[in-house]
Amino acid sequence: MFVQPIATLRRDGDGLTVLDQTCLPWRVAERRLATLEDVAESISAMRVRGAPLIGCAAAFGVAVALARGEANDAALDYALAVLRATRPTAVNLAWALNRMDERLRPLPSHARREAAWAEAAAILTEDAAMCAAIGAHGLGLLRALRARGGRPLRVMTHCNAGWLATAGMGTALAPIYAARAEGLEVEVLVSETRPRNQGLLTAWELAAAGVKYTLMADNAAGLLLMRGEADAVIVGADRIAANGDTANKVGTYLKALAARAAGVPFYVAAPLSTFDPGTACGEAIPVEERAAEEVLFIDGLDEEGCPRRLSLAPKDARAVNPAFDVTPAALVSGFITERGVIGVDGLADFLRGVQA
Ligand code: MRU
Repeated sequence: MFVQPIATLRRDGDGLTVLDQTCLPWRVAERRLATLEDVAESISAMRVRGAPLIGCAAAFGVAVALARGEANDAALDYALAVLRATRPTAVNLAWALNRMDERLRPLPSHARREAAWAEAAAILTEDAAMCAAIGAHGLGLLRALRARGGRPLRVMTHCNAGWLATAGMGTALAPIYAARAEGLEVEVLVSETRPRNQGLLTAWELAAAGVKYTLMADNAAGLLLMRGEADAVIVGADRIAANGDTANKVGTYLKALAARAAGVPFYVAAPLSTFDPGTACGEAIPVEERAAEEVLFIDGLDEEGCPRRLSLAPKDARAVNPAFDVTPAALVSGFITERGVIGVDGLADFLRGVQA
């Protein structure tokens, strides 16, 4: 069984302790979140990030809020509203908050605190199990792929959809870890993922796990795919609409286009909590716009190893910063879920079956 090297999120008394991902890959730092506002800030500022982990953090945020104050309807409404406003695209956030609401609302106030911790813990445990199942189903796909040119299988990924983004072994990286566990050699092409550079989180994770990876600039993906240097692309997702259109970290769509042009399969790995049957198609998915400064500045370490923020652009430059893009379903070869690998054609039936 996969055990996270450091828990991404754990209960800590009446608060939480999270691995602060804004310090990675340079420094491992945990952060205690004692209040609802702390949890909300950690989600907005991407200290905890990745759709499944955002859902888990939000669920625990409700428990933290009720533990510290009233647990009546007004307090529940307030906590749900504060957390709901943190990040708009990852539907796992709304999914987890709706589940907390459904569980807690019917209970008398005095019973809500313990029930909130228990439900949040259940969401966390289930997330780890879903990741493991995604890993097992994705491994089946990897076994069936054929590497070219006598080299090990090579998978391209974007952003970070590894253990850092979940309560378990990740989504897009779960098949890689499963492959490694059974001795199937897989290398990973890791896309930097400007502007927040979550690809560096992926590099950090893979290095720690002893998985061979190569970092590339986002713009290199087209050429590398055209040259046949990846056997598959596997990415995570933040929201999958009813028709299969998929929102994921900005830059995903370009990889999907390039993969299709090169004849390379493009898979989306995600738990059912990322599917949103209530959103008909990609156009209806809200895309988070983040601060221009994420594009205009860059964080890193200087030659002495001290953290520095550098300005990149001409003074007064304007920047646009959509955090996600939407890949049309037609470009997706399949969805790797905890229930198996689903093709776009079978998605509607699959979702109907799950809801029944
Ligand atoms: O903005 P982020 O870092 O939260 O975005 C993360 C992604 O886009 C991931 O690919 C997605 O959430 C899936 S994580 C298992």
